[in-house]
Amino acid sequence: TEFISVSELANLMDVSFAEVISKCMSLGIMVSINQRLDAEVIELVASEFGFDVEFINMEKQAEMEEEDDVDNEEDLSPRSPIVTIMGHVDHGKTSLLDYIRSANVVAGEAGGITQHIGAYQVSLPNGKEITFLDTPGHEAFTAMRARGAKVTDIAVIVVAADDAVMPQTREAISHAQAAGVPMIFAVNKIDKDGANPQKIYEQLSQMNILVEEWGGKFQSQEIAAKKGLNIDKLLEKILLEAELLDLKANPNREGTGTIIEASLDKGRGYVATLLVENGTLRAGDLVVSGQHYGRVKAMFNERNKREDAAGPSAPAVILGLNGAPQAGEKFKVYADEAEAKEIANRRAQILREQGMRAKKHITLDEIGRRL
Ligand code: GTP
Ligand code: MG
Repeated sequence: TEFISVSELANLMDVSFAEVISKCMSLGIMVSINQRLDAEVIELVASEFGFDVEFINMEKQAEMEEEDDVDNEEDLSPRSPIVTIMGHVDHGKTSLLDYIRSANVVAGEAGGITQHIGAYQVSLPNGKEITFLDTPGHEAFTAMRARGAKVTDIAVIVVAADDAVMPQTREAISHAQAAGVPMIFAVNKIDKDGANPQKIYEQLSQMNILVEEWGGKFQSQEIAAKKGLNIDKLLEKILLEAELLDLKANPNREGTGTIIEASLDKGRGYVATLLVENGTLRAGDLVVSGQHYGRVKAMFNERNKREDAAGPSAPAVILGLNGAPQAGEKFKVYADEAEAKEIANRRAQILREQGMRAKKHITLDEIGRRL
């Protein structure tokens, strides 16, 4: 089987293809840039660059992981969308989130927001809910993508109308495109002198992104986040996009989802913010995430209110894990304590061994690509 080409291998190792070609030549192997290499050659060349190559059967692995994840159609019910707000520095992401949060707190809980958490759910006046992920910069998003986690249903790309499509705007767009996540454009700061939304639409069109107003398929909304202008319209567009996605989950099974952030808190121990993607997570549940596990000692919503359960699309803060899993790590509830412990410990051991080898590492699909 031939796996990847010379240039793809160079990419993976972050060296130039010329270096790979000349290394091959020094080993007596003549290759060209687009030539596909077999396992033996890949291992040989990679080791010359200090890399370990691991061949894994990704198809089989994905199958195994999906196996217990399948719900019957009749067990599914609609779930609310999970939305990430992204955009260039200072274009108004935080202002937008702050306005949405303060304008849509659940009755009786107003003023209860005491701390920042990485995710929160708002209830809109029409009774619908939206979960927002507050990613500081793109790091969290990138980290999650790198771990293969696709937690976002919809990306809102904020662009300041008095500025332009900037490098991080492009980056956000390419992240969303790579993840196959639909985008809605929020053209912000239209209250400012010199705001020119048409210029933004034009720049987007140069990236092959046509907003509806320009005859394209992408929803966009002009807003002023600071004043709260047109935010209701933006939220409606998010709900419309969500409807098209027909998002569903099964609330009546054990909770699974993704860690958004985790840290060690003096006094409270390890605190993890997570997002339930399927099932329902309950206080007292035994949770495994990566090499860590523990019983949920206490669970809170984003307003720091104690809760007993969190269903699909709900964010929650939990106490009780014996460590801090990385952002983007999946979590799963187990019934059997011995099994949970064994899984976590086995993963910890694998990580320790990898750490000891302390080698650079490449993972390739063992099936390879057929020509
Ligand atoms: P980073 O987190 O640093 O990437 O920035 P951000 O995208 O979260 O932007 P933030 O919400 O912090 O806003 C940046 C600046 O723009 C602040 O001074 C806001 O007050 C201002 N700003 C945000 N939205 C608006 C708006 O609608 N109109 C006006 N005039 N100013 C705004
Ligand atoms: Mg911000």
